[in-house]
Amino acid sequence: MEKAGPNFFDDEVVFASYMQRRQGLDTPNDTLEKPVLMDLIQPITDKRVLDMGCGDAAIGRELLLQGAASYIGIEGSHKMANLAHQTLVNTSGKIILQTIEDWTYPQGAFDLVISRLALHYVADLALIFTKVFDAIAPSGKFVFSVEHPVITSCDRGWIGGTLRQDWMVDNYFKTGLRVTNWLGGTVKKYHRTVEEYFHLLQKTGFIITDLREAHPQREYFQDIETYERRKRIPLFLILAARKPA
Ligand SMILES: C[S@@+](CC[C@H](N)C(=O)[O-])C[C@H]1O[C@@H](n2cnc3c(N)ncnc32)[C@H](O)[C@@H]1O
Repeated sequence: MEKAGPNFFDDEVVFASYMQRRQGLDTPNDTLEKPVLMDLIQPITDKRVLDMGCGDAAIGRELLLQGAASYIGIEGSHKMANLAHQTLVNTSGKIILQTIEDWTYPQGAFDLVISRLALHYVADLALIFTKVFDAIAPSGKFVFSVEHPVITSCDRGWIGGTLRQDWMVDNYFKTGLRVTNWLGGTVKKYHRTVEEYFHLLQKTGFIITDLREAHPQREYFQDIETYERRKRIPLFLILAARKPA
């Protein structure tokens, strides 16, 4: 039975496989996604940060150490939220166990809103973008990463758990629900095209400041074969936007 994002990550098998994978060598998160995100969110000193779908909130601890004024992580999975609480022990960071869809966003309360690899689990992104827009102070930033649309479009021909050798892009312009087997579970994701993400941001009122596909950079990889492999297809799409002054 397919699950929505938070319930999927609360599954014992999924949670264990995900955490094990995140601790591996040269993970895509560490080598591809994080360097781009860190580049796009600077400077973070004195920024009030909101993180939607924060997972273990490791980034929250890091941003607070680097001088962020505050950090709030929204997380829908109980298991992830528990872990995030532990990560933030002895910091001023806060975790709210709530879904991105259901949380009541305070108005103009954040200078930086981030979301890392969580928004492709959200069905109505237009609504969330509007909530984020209202929650950001004038000139504040919104930076998010999602699975790249060439990945979310279609997973035909891929047997979960195996090292993927070929990628099929199909039904690219048929946006919407996708059901995928991953990490020993079955999850609902939402496929959108690159232009849909771009135009949704613009329609909400954001000024788009950057668009990245996390192309691999040698300096972040220990293993040369993984580096070469990551040149085959983009895994992530990252967009940065600003609320007008
Ligand atoms: C792939 S993990 C990424 C975690 C973290 N952002 C990171 O990059 O390390 C996706 C996270 O988003 C959370 N999530 C997915 N959909 C969500 C929703 N609708 N509301 C709240 N959290 C959600 C999941 O529970 C999971 O912790």
